[in-house]
Amino acid sequence: MTAVGIDAVEIWTGNLKLDLPGTFAPEKGEDPEKYTKGLGLNASSFPDSYEDIVTMAANAAYRLMDRKGLEPDDIGRIDVATESAFDNSKPVSTYVAGCLEQVFEGDFHHANKGERKFACIAGTQSLDDAYNWIKAGRNRGRGALVIATDTALYARGDAGEATQGAGAVAMYIDEEPNLVELSADQGYGSADETDFLKPNQQFPSVDGKRSVQVYLARMREALEDYESVAGAVHPDDFAYAPFHTPFPGMVRRAALLAYRHVIRNTSIEDDLAADIGRQPRPEGFDSDEAYRDALRDYMDSLKETDQYREWYAETIEPTLSISREVGNWYTGSVHLARASTLKEALESGKEMAGSRLLVGSYGSGAQAEIHAETVRDSWAEEIEALNVDEQLEERYDMSWEDYEEIHDAHNHEMDVDVEEFTTPEQEFVFDGWGRMGERKYRFVE
Ligand code: HMG
Repeated sequence: MTAVGIDAVEIWTGNLKLDLPGTFAPEKGEDPEKYTKGLGLNASSFPDSYEDIVTMAANAAYRLMDRKGLEPDDIGRIDVATESAFDNSKPVSTYVAGCLEQVFEGDFHHANKGERKFACIAGTQSLDDAYNWIKAGRNRGRGALVIATDTALYARGDAGEATQGAGAVAMYIDEEPNLVELSADQGYGSADETDFLKPNQQFPSVDGKRSVQVYLARMREALEDYESVAGAVHPDDFAYAPFHTPFPGMVRRAALLAYRHVIRNTSIEDDLAADIGRQPRPEGFDSDEAYRDALRDYMDSLKETDQYREWYAETIEPTLSISREVGNWYTGSVHLARASTLKEALESGKEMAGSRLLVGSYGSGAQAEIHAETVRDSWAEEIEALNVDEQLEERYDMSWEDYEEIHDAHNHEMDVDVEEFTTPEQEFVFDGWGRMGERKYRFVE
């Protein structure tokens, strides 16, 4: 059977940076370690005044097409996943296609375009759509461009302000891909939740603490649902587990729960029993409360074991390296985690061809999805081509006053003109408004 999956990936970060321990924490009167150690974040990426979800998406796609030698005729589908859209009718993908047509020969008139919305999980849903389209044989030999792009900004003063970010991830989905093959097995955990939403408003209404609990509950359901089709997961089955990363501390909590789940009834649980006992089972307790207390104690002990620490350092820590420097990219976040994983593997000289990744996506509102991916033979040359380190290094480091200005510039309810902090080069920029309220873009050489 023909393999279908991600052939190539490109990343575009917003051109500005907010230093969380150095600039944000002192203004908030908080300990910098709340950010670096607690949330696990060093910085957030922000869009400069000429950047938005379209420029970042088009710039990531441009890099990808240029590097891979793709032309519009090679692409039969453009899906953009975002939760920062500014139009309820015209999809972002049409704007992106318009941008790309400025720089490539030919056009995208033949391409099916759409926009996917389900909070942060929409990027993975767009990957699914592309996979299904190719598997159904409707692609006429063409691949799909899937782009996840967001400006993940929170209202000033909201607890989420510490986890902001902005950027885009573009992926080319094709037959016999270079990077990873997607598997058909998937698990879902989905429920009607009101933890994070944007009812016709730009900045989210968030119940932050509850959103953390909902993430864990839906992820657990998705893992169990995945196991119902793919069989029990064992820690040795997967080289890495990239997860949706609103902030690395969230994944740290999810990873401990996942590890407890996947070692149950294995020799790992047996080996640990001498030191920390066996996992509590509900049938061994008179009340739910007693069971939960025992579980909490077990988790506290498990967290300190060498087995868990080694597994975490090898399987989870490498997935978080880009996220620590950019914050939450919403729809792009899990795809950044995959890129981070493979980049860390390449840098540590690990041979990944044939290895498997357990990928956990999540979107508030809420839905989690878990699937497996198999790394392909040519993965290293795709990852080597990323210039994400240079992009992160080149960001303009904002002062607190700069940050206040740029947040206002991206607040749809304010009309402020902010001078750009950086000089665009070889990229698409926002170029003002058209006659019908449309946004206009141009490529700057
Ligand atoms: P908060 O109240 O600012 O922070 O809100 P906190 O007091 O909970 O502290 C955070 C962590 O830092 C804690 O670690 C503290 O202990 C630790 P934990 O106990 O959780 O492991 N800490 C310190 N560590 C070391 N030294 C110190 C120190 N001080 C504290 N001095 C919250 C945090 C996440 C609630 C907030 O940032 C928020 O509301 N964020 C937005 C919502 C969010 O990201 N939720 C995540 C799950 S939902 C999701 O992922 C979906 C999403 O991406 C949207 C979508 O799907 O579209 C958000």
